[in-house]
Amino acid sequence: MTREELIEAARTAARNAHAPYSRFGVGAALLMTDGGVITGCNFENASYGLSLCAETVALATANASGRLRDVVEVAVIGGAITDGGLSGTAPVSPCGRCRQVLNEAAQLGGRDLLVHCAAAEGDRVASYRLSELLPHAFGPADLGLE
Ligand code: THU
Repeated sequence: MTREELIEAARTAARNAHAPYSRFGVGAALLMTDGGVITGCNFENASYGLSLCAETVALATANASGRLRDVVEVAVIGGAITDGGLSGTAPVSPCGRCRQVLNEAAQLGGRDLLVHCAAAEGDRVASYRLSELLPHAFGPADLGLE
């Protein structure tokens, strides 16, 4: 699967964002070791602080099928929700909490995840290794696991 195809999967997932409070839709897509893709979108709550990010939803879905260790690559896309879809030309970068949640999958799987940050409009994509986004991460190894 190409980077562009993974980004398109994230874009499709973002259409299901439940984001009536921020009006900012985000989609995430995880490329798995078997070539499959698991997606998620942000899931806000009227009690704002309970909201879940797209990446965390996708990772929880991977975990629910026992595949947290099988994540290889990640795409994230997002933008302001408008009548015509999502808008904005800035690539969306995972928030700090999501970087930490991504690290759980990365360390358990023994992979430095490739993370593609895409914009709703235009073709700007910034790709990073998770270790660049979250250097010196605390993870399972610090607790004696893996
Ligand atoms: N959001 C994500 O889904 N992922 C991120 O990495 C950044 C932020 C969501 C949370 C909230 O629903 C909306 O974007 C605005 O912060």
